[in-house]
Amino acid sequence: MSDTLSPIDTAKFVAAKRAVEFVEDGMKLGLGTGSTAAWMVKLLGERIRTEGLRVTGVPTSSRTAALARQVGVNVVSLDEAKWLDLTIDGADEFDPDLNLIKGGGGALLQEKIVATASDQMLVISDISKQVETLGAFPLPVEVIPFGWQTSKALVEEALSSMDVLGETSTLRMNGDRAFVTDEGNHIIDLHLQRIGNARQLSLVLNQIPGVVENGLFIDICDIVIIGHGDGRVEAR
Ligand code: 5RP
Repeated sequence: MSDTLSPIDTAKFVAAKRAVEFVEDGMKLGLGTGSTAAWMVKLLGERIRTEGLRVTGVPTSSRTAALARQVGVNVVSLDEAKWLDLTIDGADEFDPDLNLIKGGGGALLQEKIVATASDQMLVISDISKQVETLGAFPLPVEVIPFGWQTSKALVEEALSSMDVLGETSTLRMNGDRAFVTDEGNHIIDLHLQRIGNARQLSLVLNQIPGVVENGLFIDICDIVIIGHGDGRVEAR
């Protein structure tokens, strides 16, 4: 199948394919969101069809839930599953310590809850997401709609004392309207360029009233499977 794909899709496909090999019969899985995670869900469906693999899946977005049902995954809520064996998800950036920026697809809140409730988090990524220092990708911060402009101002004020290069932020849009997450919230994207201390920034952001969660995943990811455009795969 990967013969007909562009190099970037080949990279995503081969990473997803390798990750799905980690899935064992009877596992409870967290199912990530995004184009790489969509490959993983489809490949999981293929194993369900061809091998009779039995798995339970907790999706991290309404998009992933729809796809998972379509390919035959037994979809349950996190409260039904309670705890998961493995979460497989994509990322927007990962650093040498396997800390991540996530939320480019707007699903960071459910993604972080699900990954945290898993024995293992496995990230699947093409090589372009590998960075020395997080921050070139805009950091998503989920805020409740009430008073979002005030929350945005408080976030910007907090950034002025943080070890970051940029301090601007923008409300994520969907056409001419504010983007709305599955939880009914908005997203403020922070244009930081370089995050000197991601752990500290994450703690500071989450203390601001109105902020629900941010897209920094610190000490959550266990393994990154990296796909290359020529079909090679490596793990970190
Ligand atoms: C969604 C995410 C995605 O995992 C991230 O944006 C990567 O997406 P893609 O695999 O399409 O590049 O965090 O909220």
